[in-house]
Amino acid sequence: MTKGWSKSDWRAKPRVQMPDYPDAGALQAVEAQLAKYPPLVFAGEARKLKRQLALAAEGKAFLLQGGDCAESFAEFSADNIRDTFRVMLQMAVVLTYGAKVPVIKVGRMAGQFAKPRSAGTEVIGGVELPSYRGDIINGFDFTPAARMPDAGRMLQAYTQAAASLNLLRAFSTGGFADIHRVHSWTLGFAEHDKAERYRELSNRISDALDFMSAAGVDSDTTHHLSMVDFYTSHEALLLEYEEALCRIDSITGLPVAGSGHMIWIGDRTRQPDGAHVEFCRGVQNPIGLKCGPTTTAEDLKILMAKLNPANEAGRLTLIARFGAGKVGENLPRLIKAVREEGASVVWSCDPMHGNTIKAASGYKTRPFDSVLREVREFFGVHKAEGTIPGGVHFEMTGQDVTECTGGLRAVKDEDLSDRYHTACDPRLNASQALELAFLVAEELSALRSEGKRMAL
Ligand code: PEP
Ligand code: CO
Repeated sequence: MTKGWSKSDWRAKPRVQMPDYPDAGALQAVEAQLAKYPPLVFAGEARKLKRQLALAAEGKAFLLQGGDCAESFAEFSADNIRDTFRVMLQMAVVLTYGAKVPVIKVGRMAGQFAKPRSAGTEVIGGVELPSYRGDIINGFDFTPAARMPDAGRMLQAYTQAAASLNLLRAFSTGGFADIHRVHSWTLGFAEHDKAERYRELSNRISDALDFMSAAGVDSDTTHHLSMVDFYTSHEALLLEYEEALCRIDSITGLPVAGSGHMIWIGDRTRQPDGAHVEFCRGVQNPIGLKCGPTTTAEDLKILMAKLNPANEAGRLTLIARFGAGKVGENLPRLIKAVREEGASVVWSCDPMHGNTIKAASGYKTRPFDSVLREVREFFGVHKAEGTIPGGVHFEMTGQDVTECTGGLRAVKDEDLSDRYHTACDPRLNASQALELAFLVAEELSALRSEGKRMAL
């Protein structure tokens, strides 16, 4: 992509949030092994996703990105993958109906293993140990042995990612994703007594499907109703892993990250001269860039020039994560920076990472209302600025966990301990995720009506 770039150049740059492996020999052996393994994704798929994201930048598609905060080795199972995939499909149908444009489905799956942490160490009962950094780096247990970075974990992460992708690909094309099935699950959700508000939209989708089938458009006649494109993504944090899976695309001759379709740069690793930006600028995949309250307009301009020098549509997704109540003071100044550069970007909203609080019980949680409020503020600013809200980014799971409070089944502070399973940040459960999709669909639908009115 960039002349003179090499996949190991990041090694000469300042790095943050990466482990110091105690055994250099073991690390090298793992890197050599991974470099011989097949890539997990192929360049043509990453390019296809980029073309779809180019449409989202123009409002002709909408990005739904979601999944675990951190995938874990212990929670790895077919049921978990299936359930998260299922709720994402349900959300996508609801959003498609609201937005009346295709929804691009991108999982935080099959590679989302490495975590940036706000503190390098954790103290429990007077004992200080290195922080847990995700299963690809060290273990969650609070023991010196578990917390030691272990390069061998990269091989297990690769294997788990490969198996997850294999199942996701099978689900995407093997009949599981049939729109009629997916919608029938949503009808079940809308039957809940407190879901009245969502029942109408849900019934309208049923009508649309019935009409299409009466007109001869159903799963037997068009594969669009029975198959989906599903993509994977993760934060490109552990650069030894990313470098080892970087490949040259035989069609374009350009480097591609083989670890996932889309990779992103986190809020803590977006230093313009740092190692993470250096790696990401050279691969041709779609790149996400988290933008938080501390992102300056100057840095954003430098980052856009580095990460997307040719201003290619679909290459760069800016993932805004300011926190409810802070969007109004931050998003406009970044939209202005993008405008001044004439840059093409997809604006996506991550309403999770700016809304984490500690509940009285000590659990980290995120109130559903704050999550929703940030989404609404994001839509509101885009409406005022005349720019396009192109997508959403959620931490969620298909499981019935109790990690975020609120939602129509009203998880309360005191319920958090019931089913709090996340390896890192609190996730929306299946019901909260679907409810949020309905609420975003309402925003998208209002935007569409507004757009039509303006065009008259
Ligand atoms: C994340 O997406 O899990 C994350 C750590 O986000 P951020 O970099 O925006 O804090
Ligand atoms: Co997170």
